[in-house]
Amino acid sequence: MIKNAILFALPGNETLAASLAAKLNIASGVLTIREFPDSESYVRIDSDVRDKNPILVCGLDHPNNKILTLMFAAQTMKEFGANKICLISPYLPYMRQDKRFKSGEAVSAVLFARYLSGWIDHLITIDPHLHRIKRLADLYTIESSIALHAITKMADWIKKNVLSPIIVGPDEESEQWVAEVARLASAPYIVSKKTRYGDRDVSVDLPVISDHANTPVLVDDIISTGMSMAATILQLRSRGFSEPVCVGVHALFTDDVYQHLINAGAKKIVTCNTILHPTNQIDITDIIVAAIKQM
Ligand code: R5P
Repeated sequence: MIKNAILFALPGNETLAASLAAKLNIASGVLTIREFPDSESYVRIDSDVRDKNPILVCGLDHPNNKILTLMFAAQTMKEFGANKICLISPYLPYMRQDKRFKSGEAVSAVLFARYLSGWIDHLITIDPHLHRIKRLADLYTIESSIALHAITKMADWIKKNVLSPIIVGPDEESEQWVAEVARLASAPYIVSKKTRYGDRDVSVDLPVISDHANTPVLVDDIISTGMSMAATILQLRSRGFSEPVCVGVHALFTDDVYQHLINAGAKKIVTCNTILHPTNQIDITDIIVAAIKQM
């Protein structure tokens, strides 16, 4: 367990922070954060952080509007004598641009990690999109970078809520967690081949199977535009499967994704509370609590 910890919630993260503070019996600190009229950020540390180890709870979905404020808070705490800064960001952004797909592109996964590594010491996150880069430690040059997994919680939810599931992954990179969810839920699984032509343009190709009796449960780490799930739902329906249940870890949900997935034929859409959203039904707080206890 982190010694001399003090836990701070960045705006929008108060519920998770309060729950962590209560479950871990850690004191909560006070921050004042507001916007100046010109949209610049004002940050003030209202608690004594000298010789303490601040834990900052700041989910970094839609990161561009949050990252500077977080950096001001972390660096100011260091100026006031804080020891090590631990960031809890249940969703870790900028992980998908992990290579230069076209010449001239920024490899933002590397640049973002380099930036954060400059002023945090520990990172705890849930199911970061590790694909071509296999470990957070290959990106983050800090004391510890911990990738936790929502797989067990997702499998538990499926076991309790879906009769005779077949787990479906929308693309080959999803096989890493789809196979494990299927094993834990004692269910079969299939994985589709996905081709992405643009941000909102994907096609999928599911393997042909003869038995369509099971309820398909689509499992993915991120639901952003929903195009990956929507294309998979349409193909499952055209093959004679019943309406699928969609289970995602991170509910980025750009635009009207929820309605889009329902219109495509989803029976139900469920996500983990790594990003606050009305579809959150799988609570990952205990996974973070366990990780902090072990630090
Ligand atoms: C793929 O790289 C990820 O695992 C997700 O499949 C992807 O981010 C989903 O994006 P969208 O909802 O925009 O299709």
